[in-house]
Amino acid sequence: MTEFRDAGLVDADAVAALHAESWRAHYRGILPDAYLDGQVFQERRAFWQDALRNPRVDDLTIVSAEATGLTGFVSVVRDGEPGFGAVIENLHVRPQLCGRGLGRRLLGEAVARLMAAGVPSACLWVYDVNEAAIGFYARLGGIPDKHGFDDFAGARAPDTRIVWPDLAVLERACKS
Ligand SMILES: CC(C)(COP(=O)(O)OP(=O)(O)OC[C@H]1O[C@@H](n2cnc3c(N)ncnc32)[C@H](O)[C@@H]1OP(=O)(O)O)[C@@H](O)C(=O)NCCC(=O)NCCS
Repeated sequence: MTEFRDAGLVDADAVAALHAESWRAHYRGILPDAYLDGQVFQERRAFWQDALRNPRVDDLTIVSAEATGLTGFVSVVRDGEPGFGAVIENLHVRPQLCGRGLGRRLLGEAVARLMAAGVPSACLWVYDVNEAAIGFYARLGGIPDKHGFDDFAGARAPDTRIVWPDLAVLERACKS
């Protein structure tokens, strides 16, 4: 049985642990080995403690949980990208649970909340080498529309913006 709920400060350590686990599993070669093998959990814990202690109005962090603990999370901000109502900043499923529909359900939970708030459109940025995530977003109707670079943890990696100019398209895809 999977429960979806808003994250609170009490979830910060578990979200950080899942975030670090996902990055270690999927971002090797994107983020520096020294960071992934070193301070990734501490850095993510500081990030999530701050984000969940001081959430900005309309920011959204939703976790999925089972009796055994957190299984994934999604976070969305509303003012991150000019021209778009929302930016999906993070979407992570526990590595051993990927490919079972949880990513789509998590995204669907966030999108339902955005639609209810009248948000018309959304986008996100994905690393170019993250082909699995790019395939996932394409399956959900996302359109690549521009390229850039992300600087994080001392590394620079090319990334691509994926857009849903009509958020209803993503809402339908998350339900299909
Ligand atoms: C990307 C991620 C969130 C997707 O979640 P998931 O639970 O693995 O994906 P789902 O099982 O919900 O897949 C939903 C649909 O997308 C499809 N899909 C998933 N990956 C795909 C791929 N690489 N290519 C094509 N379709 C894909 C699935 O087949 C499914 O469609 P279907 O029901 O018609 O078969 C998850 O794999 C993850 O956490 N990856 C690591 C972190 C990451 O890269 N996050 C994104 C950062 S931008």
